[in-house]
Amino acid sequence: MKKLLILLASITLFSGSSVAQTTREFTPGERWYDEKGELINAHGGGLLYTKGTYYWYGEIRGTSASEGVSVYSSKDLHHWKNQGVALAKSKDPSSEIAVGGLMERPKVIYNPKTKKYVMWFHLELPGKGYDAARAGVAISDKATGPFTYLKSFRPNGHMSRDMTLYVDDDGSAYHVYSARDNYDLRIAKLSDDFLSVTTQDSLLFSNHREAPALLKKDGKYYLITSGCTGWKPNQASLHVSESLFGPWKLLGDPMKGPNAKLTFDGQSTYIQAIPGKKDAFIFIADRWNPKDLKDSRYLWLPIRFEGGQPVVEWVDRWSIKSAFHN
Ligand code: GAL
Repeated sequence: MKKLLILLASITLFSGSSVAQTTREFTPGERWYDEKGELINAHGGGLLYTKGTYYWYGEIRGTSASEGVSVYSSKDLHHWKNQGVALAKSKDPSSEIAVGGLMERPKVIYNPKTKKYVMWFHLELPGKGYDAARAGVAISDKATGPFTYLKSFRPNGHMSRDMTLYVDDDGSAYHVYSARDNYDLRIAKLSDDFLSVTTQDSLLFSNHREAPALLKKDGKYYLITSGCTGWKPNQASLHVSESLFGPWKLLGDPMKGPNAKLTFDGQSTYIQAIPGKKDAFIFIADRWNPKDLKDSRYLWLPIRFEGGQPVVEWVDRWSIKSAFHN
């Protein structure tokens, strides 16, 4: 009996530690399952960190359909709990967010003045392909939603497709978006409640770029973008500026390693800073699978700085501990 108990205890210990070892590593491009063993369905997404919890918002995809916005939560960036649908499609066929339209690249930020979580996303109207090119806005009292859809518009009259949100150190928020059929990348400062754009809206550059992702280090802003080839991967580029409104200087391709010229078959979507660690950022990209969008993979890779400049180098597996030493 005693022997059996010792055996059982060691099996538990052994399997426990091997699980911990394997799941504390990121394996870019591999299938990623939530706590219930379901594939994580949160594409073109972004993260929000608040009070010790990370929330991951992304596109819920069927084989091709856009099925709303999901939200997952995690304490450690590895184990994700599905918190359900953050923003659902409307059952009303006349709604702007009815089934048949697209909700892409959702990003959520928190407004401490209004105490609301605010979601922005790229909205396409049902049956209109990618012609509407609008920014959609939704709001919630809780990070996990459900979010209430408020409105959509073209910021200051400009088309708005791929986008991200960015909150600066002073609490001001910005919408960075592809405009003029994706030839222009623009930035607009948001209103104090984060629900609209102000007229402080300007062109960053006209290089035909999309999929913007931003980070700030030592007072400089770094912006990673992709080219515009739909679901097909292309070469990333990195720009730097001392002000969000520019001038932005092209630094080149920040990717390194096999297949770097095609962003490792991925496309940028977000950069997450790790709280409590200096200059620790994760580059987040989607490896789209247009034949089965829900099985598109996630590429999470550490950003390191060479001569002060961000570099994203491919690694098959990595951990926060090994990538960031401070
Ligand atoms: C990409 C864009 C994706 C999606 C896709 C559709 O250029 O970054 O978010 O819109 O096109 O083809």
